[in-house]
Amino acid sequence: MVLAVKGTRDLFGTELQWFQWIESICHRCMQCHGYSEIRTPILEELEVFKRSVGESSDIINKEMYDFIDKGGRHVVMRPENTAGVVRAAIQHKFFETSDPKRLYYIGPMFRYERMQAGRYRQFWQIGAEIFGASTPETDAENLTLLFDFLNELGLKNLMLSINSVGTPESRPAFYSAFREFFDKAESQFCSDCHRRILENPLRVLDCKVPKCQVALEGHPIITDFLDEESCKHHERLKDLLTALHIPFAENSRLVRGLDYYTRTAFEVLSSDLGAQSALLGGGRYDGLVKQLGGPDVPGFGWAIGLDRLAMLMQTIHGDAQRNTPTILIPMGETAATKAIVLAKELWKAGIPIQLETRNVPLKKALQTANRQGFQLALILGDSEIEQGVLTAKDLTKGSQETWNLDTVAEKLKAILQLAYTD
Ligand code: HAM
Repeated sequence: MVLAVKGTRDLFGTELQWFQWIESICHRCMQCHGYSEIRTPILEELEVFKRSVGESSDIINKEMYDFIDKGGRHVVMRPENTAGVVRAAIQHKFFETSDPKRLYYIGPMFRYERMQAGRYRQFWQIGAEIFGASTPETDAENLTLLFDFLNELGLKNLMLSINSVGTPESRPAFYSAFREFFDKAESQFCSDCHRRILENPLRVLDCKVPKCQVALEGHPIITDFLDEESCKHHERLKDLLTALHIPFAENSRLVRGLDYYTRTAFEVLSSDLGAQSALLGGGRYDGLVKQLGGPDVPGFGWAIGLDRLAMLMQTIHGDAQRNTPTILIPMGETAATKAIVLAKELWKAGIPIQLETRNVPLKKALQTANRQGFQLALILGDSEIEQGVLTAKDLTKGSQETWNLDTVAEKLKAILQLAYTD
């Protein structure tokens, strides 16, 4: 038997139902906030990520699915989509005017990562990016979209963790203070951190090795080294979050695993997920468009892992609701004709129903319906047709009643409406 490639998986059943539900809420929420969808290719030129995500990041160093294609191009199966969206926006001249652009995406990403719960090599992200506005109000607007989306999903127990990583201009002052601190406790840090301190000192703050986290006690705080504008930006954003009732905590070690962030960096953690798992991450990236060959256009955004979201939905809400809670079971050929015509009318009216087409005894049909989790079985036999009725059997309670055939659509609609407002 050939299995799915390690780290990838087939989506179906309840998990896929949660994906679809989350996606439908996402489309509604994004459109309500004025964001339009963009779909970019999974394959991008290596340059797109080398110039954006950063040479010192784990993504570039260890995790990329990259290869030379048959035409000799060095391509990458995208590990994230901010860089791809920026590449597309430059290519299609979205930045010809200075008007803000709001874009969102849903799609699979690929990282060659160590497997853990909720961590895959092919995973899905939903992301939202805003370009062309650098104010803290822009950060707050995009974060409000995020929290509206999370609230619509019914998520609670969330914590927004924020930091400011300053600008490339303000960082050298922090780097020198941080290197001085590191040198004093050098022996307590892991070998990766010795490389990181040379390549990108911010990465040391992000090290997950417990002894490094201990060695970091009392480290210089990046927000103490911010330039005046970054400082004002950070303070104003915190005021706006307070006004919006978005609970947050400052985290001076939050630097994120990608190099393009300037000023605001954030993550949202859920206590319903495992300790290590951020549900999402994002921030401001004012230099990225220019770095990828476009004009000097600021950006801000986030991406959330859909796999982790679906896992949370399952934990919080249990199994997703069946798309078709009702099955129609005809008994005999005359009833089968009547049933298929009735089903056609119901489908046309947008009422979900599944039809038993196997011509099996009622007992067997009901056993299958129970096993498949149907809530209601509509049974149609010859005697019922003569009387213009059918039998509606509630499979969860075992009770049954008789419905007039011409009221079936109305009754099913009422039941569905009740289920969705529960
Ligand atoms: P990221 O933090 O690398 O940011 O990924 C965002 C989210 O994707 C994570 O918080 C997590 O939920 C999910 N994720 C990442 N790797 C995996 C994995 N191997 N398996 C399952 N889920 C995963 C970015 O990708 C940035 N592009 C976010 C951004 C958008 N920043 C600005 N705009």
